[in-house]
Amino acid sequence: MLGNFSASYVIGKLSADIDIRKYGSGNAGTTNVMRTLGYKAAIFTLLIDCLKGVLAVYIARKFGSENLAMMAGVAVVVGHNWPALLDFKGGKGIATTIGVALSIHFNTALICIFIGIIILILFKYVSLAAMIAITLLPIFLIFQGWNYFVFGLVLCLLAVYRHRQNIQRLLQGTESKITEKLKVK
Ligand code: G3P
Repeated sequence: MLGNFSASYVIGKLSADIDIRKYGSGNAGTTNVMRTLGYKAAIFTLLIDCLKGVLAVYIARKFGSENLAMMAGVAVVVGHNWPALLDFKGGKGIATTIGVALSIHFNTALICIFIGIIILILFKYVSLAAMIAITLLPIFLIFQGWNYFVFGLVLCLLAVYRHRQNIQRLLQGTESKITEKLKVK
């Protein structure tokens, strides 16, 4: 249910009366809000989608176990990627995964985010940075136990699956850089 609340969709509607999924990459996420509506709207999108992940893990941890918290983390990302309230056309789950990963294992998530930011600064592709960072998540989490590894692996597979078109564009050299803007209205 939490995942269903798409920050980019709501911010697109409220700030410019647009369906963000009809602009730019068509993705309901922070990067597309950034290129379409600017950095202020993108910061709000990032924070709200991230908070969904934090909240899902917090609630599950409060009423259940650490394993339940990890399952709730995966569930909120699935809800974000395929929101029933928006015809199952959502985002790619990166901002929500950041919130989930930070809540499950803060230090490991922080290292992955740091590496992702370095990749982003060097190559300017959010998708590339996100996929490298999230691929490192299960690798680093293996030191915490198998349950953490499986949790990280599922999040990684979800992210790579959702970035299939980005991977194609990266290979063809047509992927948009973070610096590229789109004029909406
Ligand atoms: O988090 C999504 C990002 O990695 C790519 O977004 O809009 O460029 O497909 P976009």
